[in-house]
Amino acid sequence: MTIDTTHLNQQMTHFDGHQEIWLFGYGSLIWKADFPYLERRPAHIRGWVRRFWQGSYDHRGTPESPGRVATLVREPGATCHGMAYRITPETLGPLDVREKNGYLRVVTELHFDDAHGDVSQASQDRKASESAEGLVYLATEDNAAFLGDAPHEAIARQIAEACGASGPNRDYLLNLAASLEQLGHHDEHIVSLASHLTDEAS
Ligand code: SIN
Repeated sequence: MTIDTTHLNQQMTHFDGHQEIWLFGYGSLIWKADFPYLERRPAHIRGWVRRFWQGSYDHRGTPESPGRVATLVREPGATCHGMAYRITPETLGPLDVREKNGYLRVVTELHFDDAHGDVSQASQDRKASESAEGLVYLATEDNAAFLGDAPHEAIARQIAEACGASGPNRDYLLNLAASLEQLGHHDEHIVSLASHLTDEAS
């Protein structure tokens, strides 16, 4: 359950030689950007949904009382909104450590939200920056910390009870819910879990 993916990620060579890399964040990377970045832009990726299906045995829980954090699950036609960061390759080292509990770097096409509808700047240059190839940290169902689906009441209860080295699990969910709302996105899975979590507290 606590497989460390740091080493696997550091073997990835896809962006070798690149001076800058786009990273797509959909969970804590949206609201806890405690790493250096050159630029950030709201963005989305296609074909994925955000789910609290990944166990957290380090940041938001313990081996005795694991928390639950976000990962992505394939869903054709779906869109997952988040935040894209333009980073230098050196930033990946600390991020690999942060995401070590089951997450692997995966190459993805990301689409910038602020590129759409901007008719006044519809230049070729602007069009070229509507999307980019980048990275996303993904915890797939074959990783040892994957917990999978459960009734929302049960997920919320687990989140209410868990706490890890980075703090209470509830903060992860509520900060994510607040950030998505601020970005203007309704993610039904997150809204439902946050509402059950609030019920847990009352
Ligand atoms: C992400 O936010 O993109 C990855 C999962 C996490 O760190 O919460």
